[in-house]
Amino acid sequence: MGFFITFEGVEGCGKTTQLRLLKERLESCGEKVIATREPGGCPIADQMRAILLDAKNSAITPLAELLLYAAARAQHVNEVIVPALQRGETVLCDRFTDATVAYQGHGRGLDLTVIGELNRLATGALAPSLTVLIDCPVEIGLSRALARIEATSGAREERFELESVRFHERVREGYLALAAAFPERFVIVDGSGDVPRTEKLVTQALSTRIDALKRGGSPASQAGS
Ligand SMILES: Nc1ncnc2c1ncn2[C@@H]1O[C@H](COP(=O)(O)OP(=O)(O)O)[C@@H](O)[C@H]1O
Ligand SMILES: [Mg+2]
Repeated sequence: MGFFITFEGVEGCGKTTQLRLLKERLESCGEKVIATREPGGCPIADQMRAILLDAKNSAITPLAELLLYAAARAQHVNEVIVPALQRGETVLCDRFTDATVAYQGHGRGLDLTVIGELNRLATGALAPSLTVLIDCPVEIGLSRALARIEATSGAREERFELESVRFHERVREGYLALAAAFPERFVIVDGSGDVPRTEKLVTQALSTRIDALKRGGSPASQAGS
């Protein structure tokens, strides 16, 4: 089984940027790497992504939203993540189960036990080998994310960027609580600096952890989420 590394954090913290940089770095070392994202990551789940992130769908109920995330994840894990891990490839995923705990649980207030059950069901209990939590104040992340939306004018993936600052603060606190609960799986990286600084912190944190994982021989596991 290959390594399964997820990137988490509030909007605009730098997940997509850092995931891309890590992919390049690992590939330059000769590793076979797949970069994917949630919600989505394959054509069927991408159709669910379009529903989930479209600002026009603000009337979606919290439960319908949660179930759509689970449905998209079930498809993505089965069609993309597990086959790649079985081929021995490294999988980098932009958001995963922790995002559902942080956004739908801590952000929206849905029952954390139900979310945990749905996550287990959708993933077949597959947990990341490592989760990089890029942490930064929500105002910094949101201002980057909104600048990106304006630059790409008319982006439709903006439903979460439009939530209140308080919502995003609950999400951030939720992520920090997860990292505290699963210290062996999480690394927290400060994302408030510029891109090269964050990249350096990600590289430092991961090189220590990946070496430890390789020594311990426990890549993507079936537990610990
Ligand atoms: N450390 C950083 N400092 C300033 N701007 C950044 C930083 N990291 C990313 N950005 C920019 O901010 C925007 C959001 O970054 P992105 O990586 O897409 O965040 P996320 O995927 O976490 O929402 C992008 O336009 C990106 O180029
Ligand atoms: Mg992103």
